[in-house]
Amino acid sequence: QSPKDIDKNNRSKDKASTLASIKEITNSYSNALVASSGLSMQYAIMMGLIDYAQENHAGKPIKFIVPTNCYGGTNDQARRVAACLDNVEVVDLAVDGDHDMVSSIETVLAKIATEDAVPYIIAEIPTNPRVEVPNLQKLREVLSTVRNTANGDTAIDPVFILDQTFCPNIHFLGESDILSAVRTISYASGSKFPSGGRCTAGYAVANKKADALMAKIELHLLLCDNEATDLQYEILAEQLPSMNQRIADAYIATSDFVNFIQDTLPTAKINFVSEELAKEGFTPSVFSLDLPTKGETAEEQEEYKRALNHKLIRMMITQIPDESKYCVSYGQLKGCYWTIPATSTQGTTKEGDKDYIARVALSGNMNLEKHKEVFAQFVKEIE
Ligand SMILES: Cc1ncc(COP(=O)(O)O)c(C=O)c1O
Repeated sequence: QSPKDIDKNNRSKDKASTLASIKEITNSYSNALVASSGLSMQYAIMMGLIDYAQENHAGKPIKFIVPTNCYGGTNDQARRVAACLDNVEVVDLAVDGDHDMVSSIETVLAKIATEDAVPYIIAEIPTNPRVEVPNLQKLREVLSTVRNTANGDTAIDPVFILDQTFCPNIHFLGESDILSAVRTISYASGSKFPSGGRCTAGYAVANKKADALMAKIELHLLLCDNEATDLQYEILAEQLPSMNQRIADAYIATSDFVNFIQDTLPTAKINFVSEELAKEGFTPSVFSLDLPTKGETAEEQEEYKRALNHKLIRMMITQIPDESKYCVSYGQLKGCYWTIPATSTQGTTKEGDKDYIARVALSGNMNLEKHKEVFAQFVKEIE
């Protein structure tokens, strides 16, 4: 065997192992497509779905429904794609805080149906950075309701494009899973839990109802030469089998830290999944923190809160520099990552939709006691 043959054999072995792991982890009907990054996967999904719509619903407008405060790259990319094509438009979706994903989807789909347009919905579950999970029964209902166009024809049913980066272990796609009756494509950024931060990659899978869309998505992935590299397949093949355990360990650390913060600073508003949701399997390892503020006016309160965010992060990264980093990350093999989403992941989000709160992502491999100590000291200093 020449070295080239060995390389080829390794690639096919690593690719087969990666695809088998993803299928098992996601309970998907389709095989996975694996890309060189999460955003290149998402690009192929968008272009594949546009291509599919041009063929199957020629001449109809295409609407990408995008949460206003989702990961900035998603938001930005969707708008760039839409800007290139006359018949493609982005429609805003309000998903958390005062808004509920399900009722927002209902409103938007009702309008798109009357326009006889093609609805493609992008959503993150749980939402980021407020870590909210919609009522999934209601989500299924709203997505599978048959609607009519203005002249009484049956409207085109939506495709739900689910960014599962924050909970890649949840089963949405199997025949007995919650979204089986809705055309659903799920994708995840592989630089988070799938590889534990060891490479950029991304993958997408479909349920049975959406399987027919995968050929078009694959076409666009290959057209852009964006399939994962040999090294990315090698790393994913190595890391994916331990992913669910890493997710479980990181959740334990996160919920421990959340409980500690709640006890030490009860006036902080913490955005994290409830214990009920965790029992259902939603075990993210990220939470966000609205620190208690002071001031006469709303502006003063906002200014004080923003200063506190910086103070907390500064204390963490200077006192625990080997573990606490001021950077956007999630699902890493070790350490703890702090960011203010408004200044990082929501970079391209409209100012009014940004969140000036502190977001923390933990791993199961860090000195939690030391982090609690620094947090307790922070509380003492601000009281
Ligand atoms: C929720 C979410 N989706 C998608 C992406 C994009 O993935 P990637 O960085 O692998 O392109 C990211 C992060 O970077 C993310 O946080």
